[in-house]
Amino acid sequence: MKTYQKNDVVRIELVLNGQRRSGTCESRTLLSDFLRHELGATGTHVGCEHGVCGACTVRVDGVASRTCLSLAVQAEGRSIETVEGLNREQARGQEGLSDLQEAFRRNHALQCGFCTAGILMSSADYLARKPDPSEQEVREMLSGHLCRCTGYTNIVKAVMETAAARLGRPVGATPPADQPGHAGIGTAAQSKLVSA
Ligand code: FES
Ligand code: FES
Repeated sequence: MKTYQKNDVVRIELVLNGQRRSGTCESRTLLSDFLRHELGATGTHVGCEHGVCGACTVRVDGVASRTCLSLAVQAEGRSIETVEGLNREQARGQEGLSDLQEAFRRNHALQCGFCTAGILMSSADYLARKPDPSEQEVREMLSGHLCRCTGYTNIVKAVMETAAARLGRPVGATPPADQPGHAGIGTAAQSKLVSA
């Protein structure tokens, strides 16, 4: 394992939203700061900076992860997906919103938008692993995120609507009652995902 002194300046290479990127930073630089200040990916927001609010969530090798609890050096060689890349697969690199973002827009699931990038990234990760969640499971997943102004009702609606649309189910239809329970990735579970 590589070791660093605290003032070492290091070069980091990673894949950001499908593109090879590199930059330099001090070895103690947080991944959130590296993404924002070195790579210009300012869609990732920083709120509490100690792992509570979820605003800084991105996907690291496909898994939701809090960038304020990770060092940039830990992301060396990894694939990072931020909100700027969320529409990448669906829109094939064109301008446009993903279905999840469209659902947020349609349902007024944001106000100031400060928390939204993080919530979108967690929701994208969650729906990839749990395509047919119950409302309670979505609420549990969202418990790892603090939104100060929207209230969660419309956020839950947007996530549920996206899941329903992907499954070809009419919006508002109830998911099957016999689906197995899911632990969700709320506050406690999400804190396990930060060791990117
Ligand atoms: Fe709040 Fe990272 S900034 S969890
Ligand atoms: Fe303002 Fe969530 S939309 S904090």
